[in-house]
Amino acid sequence: MDMSLIRSTAIVLFLLLLSGSAQSIVFDIRTFGGAPNSDITQAFLNAWKQACASTSPSKIVISKATYKMNAVNVKGPCKAPIEIQVDGTIQAPTDPNALNGAFQWVTIGYVDYFTLSGNGTFDGRGASAWKLQKACGATCSKRSMNIGFNFLKHSTVRSVTSKDSKFFHVTLLGCTNFTFDGFKIIAPGDSISINTDGIHIAKSTDVKILNSNIATGDDCVSLGDGNKHITIHNVKCGPGHGFSIGSLGTNPTEEPVENIIVKNCTLTNTQNGVRIKTWPTAPGTSPVTNLTFEDITMVNVYNPVIIDQQYCPSNLCSKQSPSKIKISNVTFKNIKGTSETKDGVILNCSSGVPCEGVELSDISLTFNGAPAMAKCANVKPIIIGKAPSCSA
Ligand SMILES: *[C@@H]1O[C@H](CO)[C@@H](O)[C@H](O)[C@H]1NC(C)=O
Ligand SMILES: *[C@@H]1O[C@H](CO)[C@@H](O)[C@H](O)[C@H]1NC(C)=O
Ligand SMILES: *[C@@H]1O[C@H](CO)[C@@H](O)[C@H](O)[C@H]1NC(C)=O
Ligand SMILES: *[C@@H]1O[C@H](CO)[C@@H](O)[C@H](O)[C@H]1NC(C)=O
Ligand SMILES: *[C@@H]1O[C@H](CO)[C@@H](O)[C@H](O)[C@H]1NC(C)=O
Ligand SMILES: *[C@@H]1O[C@H](CO)[C@@H](O)[C@H](O)[C@H]1NC(C)=O
Repeated sequence: MDMSLIRSTAIVLFLLLLSGSAQSIVFDIRTFGGAPNSDITQAFLNAWKQACASTSPSKIVISKATYKMNAVNVKGPCKAPIEIQVDGTIQAPTDPNALNGAFQWVTIGYVDYFTLSGNGTFDGRGASAWKLQKACGATCSKRSMNIGFNFLKHSTVRSVTSKDSKFFHVTLLGCTNFTFDGFKIIAPGDSISINTDGIHIAKSTDVKILNSNIATGDDCVSLGDGNKHITIHNVKCGPGHGFSIGSLGTNPTEEPVENIIVKNCTLTNTQNGVRIKTWPTAPGTSPVTNLTFEDITMVNVYNPVIIDQQYCPSNLCSKQSPSKIKISNVTFKNIKGTSETKDGVILNCSSGVPCEGVELSDISLTFNGAPAMAKCANVKPIIIGKAPSCSA
């Protein structure tokens, strides 16, 4: 872009911002009885009802203070664009049973032109639920995720923080044209046994995660089946389990994953860097194709680059037959930094449907100061520039 284009784009954006904020009708939860240090569940639901019915753009404002809120599940369609600006801290009940088994603490569905903004925090206060979970395991009552966005179109999440979710932080299901920009996720690295994934995306198209920081116990971002055109750009991950495609294969009705780009990201002290995982002896057959992982920095990452088509955590599955998921056209380009294991690159593809079109381009990972190695099965990667060659 030349300077004049940048300048005129900036002016247009500025005018759009001005007109956007000028038009919005504000629904402050205080006018609905939502007071600091009190439960704002009903105030929020009432504000949503009015804002969603507004024929001009609306903004629900939750101003700087601390509030308590129980499970809420709000739906569109709304009559005009709707925004929730959270500048305060909203706290979930610490007792997981208080959420009555809700799938998510906050669920927002079937809205077009939805925006979540502000510098506030959704505090899932998960620490006691994690402790309970460790004690009761599979017999535990269901834990709620912090936020679920279902079937939203043309929507944006800016600046807000999701903290200490009892389970996954955020899930997207069936969304189209959805952007996270400057989003933050914070939970301790040892919340791992609880699946505190950062952002899980399923069956969505045109999703962008930009300029965000994710620190949690499980995958920073996990992409399930049916995702197309997903961009992860300028995102920092760690602690956590890195960026994962999958796990895939467990469900026979799964849909393909394609056109994914992860660029200019840094992973620090994570279990994995960039990973694709599919289950062996599983019914899913939908292919995975056209993925690019580019300009990635690894800082003390256990498995920086890994395709694992024999994904079977704790050996709780049968490895009798190979994964039926075909992985093709995957580029790993300009990946540098430090590996915590000697095999910085593991490409463990399916013997049933070997990987095709996997490219390793300028990979410079070190383990204890020496170049890290690559271990491969059922794949013949194309090597461009400097990259480790495969051993079995
Ligand atoms: C959020 O924080 C940023 C940076 O601290 C500040 O520029 C912005 O005005 C804040 N937004 C609100 C709505 O308080
Ligand atoms: C995507 O959504 C944004 C709002 O988040 C909107 O401004 C933009 O026009 C949408 N893009 C398309 C192609 O519809
Ligand atoms: C890469 O990401 C970092 C943040 O992690 C950002 O500061 C930097 O500007 C980005 N570089 C490019 C070229 O986008
Ligand atoms: C591959 O994915 C990228 C990123 O979404 C996209 O820009 C490109 O057009 C795709 N290529 C093909 C051949 O589909
Ligand atoms: C992979 O890329 C090759 C070369 O660009 C292309 O011919 C092929 O159709 C692609 N495979 C898939 C499954 O899209
Ligand atoms: C692939 O995974 C299997 C099962 O975990 C393991 O036995 C094998 O050594 C792995 N191969 C490579 C090349 O990593």
